[in-house]
Amino acid sequence: QTVYLKDYTPPEYLIETVELNFDLDEQLTIVRSSLSLQRNPQSKHQNLALSLMGEELQLISLAIDGVSLDEDEYTLDKESLLIHKVPQDRAFQLKIENSISPAANTALEGLYLSSQMLCTQCEAQGFRKITWFLDRPDVMSRYKVTLSAAKDKYPVLLSNGNKIAGGDIDQNRHWVTWEDPFAKPSYLFALVAGQLEAVSDEFVTHSGRRIELQIFVESHNVDKCAHAMQSLKNAMRWDEETYGLEYDLDLYMIVAVDHFNMGAMENKGLNIFNTKFVLARPDTATDSDYEYIEGVIGHEYFHNWTGNRITCRDWFQLSLKEGFTVFRDQQFSADRSSKAVKRIADVNALRTRQFAEDAGPLAHPVRPEAYIEINNFYTLTVYEKGAEVVRMLHTLLGPEGFRKGCDLYFARHDGQAVTCEDFVNALETANQADFSQFWLWYSQAGTPVLDVTEHYDAANQQLHLTIKQSCPATPGQAQKAPFHIPVKLGLLSDDGSAAPIWFNQQSSNEITLHVTAAEQTFSFANLAQAPVVSLLRGFSAPVILKMERSLEDLAFLLRHDSDTFNRWEAGQQLAIKVIFELIKNLQNQQALQLTPLLVDAWRNILQDKFSDLSYQAMLLSLPEESYLAGLMEVIDVDAIHEAREFVRISLAKQLQTEFQRLYTLYHRDESGNFQADAIGRRRLKNICLNYLISLETPENYELAERQFYSAGNMTDQMAALATIANSRHPAKARSLDSFYHQWRREALVIDKWFALQATSSMPNTFATVQSLMRHHAFDIKTPNRVRALIGAFSQSNPVNFHAKNGEGYAFLADQVLVLNDLNPQIASRMVTGLAQWRRYDEERQILMKQQLQRIVSYAHLSKDVYEIASKSLA
Ligand code: ARG
Ligand code: ZN
Repeated sequence: QTVYLKDYTPPEYLIETVELNFDLDEQLTIVRSSLSLQRNPQSKHQNLALSLMGEELQLISLAIDGVSLDEDEYTLDKESLLIHKVPQDRAFQLKIENSISPAANTALEGLYLSSQMLCTQCEAQGFRKITWFLDRPDVMSRYKVTLSAAKDKYPVLLSNGNKIAGGDIDQNRHWVTWEDPFAKPSYLFALVAGQLEAVSDEFVTHSGRRIELQIFVESHNVDKCAHAMQSLKNAMRWDEETYGLEYDLDLYMIVAVDHFNMGAMENKGLNIFNTKFVLARPDTATDSDYEYIEGVIGHEYFHNWTGNRITCRDWFQLSLKEGFTVFRDQQFSADRSSKAVKRIADVNALRTRQFAEDAGPLAHPVRPEAYIEINNFYTLTVYEKGAEVVRMLHTLLGPEGFRKGCDLYFARHDGQAVTCEDFVNALETANQADFSQFWLWYSQAGTPVLDVTEHYDAANQQLHLTIKQSCPATPGQAQKAPFHIPVKLGLLSDDGSAAPIWFNQQSSNEITLHVTAAEQTFSFANLAQAPVVSLLRGFSAPVILKMERSLEDLAFLLRHDSDTFNRWEAGQQLAIKVIFELIKNLQNQQALQLTPLLVDAWRNILQDKFSDLSYQAMLLSLPEESYLAGLMEVIDVDAIHEAREFVRISLAKQLQTEFQRLYTLYHRDESGNFQADAIGRRRLKNICLNYLISLETPENYELAERQFYSAGNMTDQMAALATIANSRHPAKARSLDSFYHQWRREALVIDKWFALQATSSMPNTFATVQSLMRHHAFDIKTPNRVRALIGAFSQSNPVNFHAKNGEGYAFLADQVLVLNDLNPQIASRMVTGLAQWRRYDEERQILMKQQLQRIVSYAHLSKDVYEIASKSLA
């Protein structure tokens, strides 16, 4: 059942052109496919048979070059169609006719029904649920697609490329033909049919071509497309300016659908998006939603070059397109908003979620070597760590060298399906660099650890930094060779200014050290005083940095470090140290007391002047419980929660006047203003509110309630409701009800309402979750809703999900089994909540393991869930 990278062989046959004809109907769709096939000259096999992939299809007829095949000329099973004999020395035409049932497709892979419209999702292997095909990314073909359907139900008929013809069949049915001039793998095929309205615009490319842009939505969402459209134009311009890459078709379409397993899909010329990443209006979407939308619109657009024009040879190479494209969308978002805040947000997500994956039973390299179900490998490691790997290449080569390497990559491989080696190779060749050791980032799993010790030699005015690297064992990889790690360094004098770094007889304010051996010492000269070291600036490598630091040094860096990432990191480390002391006290039943040092540090942040208020808000944020959990040997969810709450409340008590001052200073109505400074004011004010409400006083409760009822934008309304829902606010039930009634027609807002309640740390949350499962607005067939309730509870509510009696675990396993039968991809994502069972105390381990075992022994388990659950237990 396992597929291995080492078993890769080129396809035996190629498909030059594809003609598809769809007779669309939600109950029964007829697909007629005409493939021009020929042997692949590169294949070494001598095989007369042709094996095509296909699942859940009803065969109607088969013919080669106009001659229909008899039943003894082919073999059909659940996953393939084997045609015993096909012409070897010439091209031939294979015609297939089959039927499918979109309405019965709850897995949301292949052709399915979402609300009233028909749409497709083919990556990774959904095309084989439409018709039999060589459904692998290294088979690239040119497509011509004809769609016919009922005019009233499906007035809009879309597919990839350009519309070349269309007309009426009779009074009730019509047809349209689309042609895509670019050869593409089947995973980039798409079609959409439905009652959709288009929001249109245009973009003139650098070379002067006029591109038509269209966003298709249901009519009630037409007023929520402006931001997505602007984001698309921003992305198109940015890619021209930054990478010299232009769009290549005359039309770019985006369709938003309610039912979608992931975020969005880069189908050539016809992106299909989860509505969550398209729709926004100031009163329905938060500032973060606006930022995510721009990021995802950019991501899918950037795939046109990194993914579509140059694609993956096989699915093990997924990070070739995903890691690179995430890096590109991160660069784009950083350029569009606050660089400092974007970097911190990305690192935060990486460290809380990807580091956990890399340290657990599901750890795998950025380029995996084996899988049972490829959909399980759309992971944080392939995406986010993959992006960090590309970022390190960017750091090592510098912006110009990186661009030169990318230019060569695009020139060499345009129109091809290639490997991660091809990418790294192009960067090496263009820069005469040697990345042979760097390559280990693609092949070795696990997060490297850097143990750093410093020694200041006063007599010689030298600083010696000794860096030891190691990497823990991961499944299938006991020993690791040393990585090539770029470590950015700065030094601070005792007045907080930069101390010149003398290294190899040269001086600068910042350098990148190349850590390549298991242990290395770097020495810096001409230092009359011991400097304060600022290491791993900008988080220059995805590693865990261990360095003994005093609270005073951390507070000093928090005041003075010129590197915005490390300045924030110093504050986090400071808070972490303090919280872990408190956790120890809690575990030893000692009284808690907050060190004045942290209070002073936070007071400084509150009183300092910042030009970037979003950044100031980030400096004030305490590390998340899930991040703290990742740092603990045996996770103690209750102690983490209690200690962190103690810090939050104590800071609020001692700095109440400051929090109130900033709240009042920045609380104003600027709904609809999405300039960085307005977003910053909202962020800062709302974090102040978050601290203030922890005091549970009537006047602060009233502050939150007033903001909730008067807010003209979703950021402020949501922030207020979140603080209310996470407290003992007397008006909690009333506020939640009022919110529901205000927004009951806006699905994406109702998702927020579910998630907010599911993540509350208050004691009766599990009962609330159970009753929400029975709420008429809950629908287990809508992935966004499942993620908002079941996903949020099991992955973002540590204290309640990990309740000692195991009720959270049993609940999750119940839901996984229900989902298993409906939508295996979503089911397997939900197993994540149990995968880290080894990290908890013995009683919880037993309870979590029991539920995993119960899942594994289910009779009709999908590959998806089987792989995650069984690997978690192994
Ligand atoms: N290529 C898409 C993206 O990164 C992800 C689609 C993956 N879908 C899936 N079912 N595995 O934007
Ligand atoms: Zn992607």
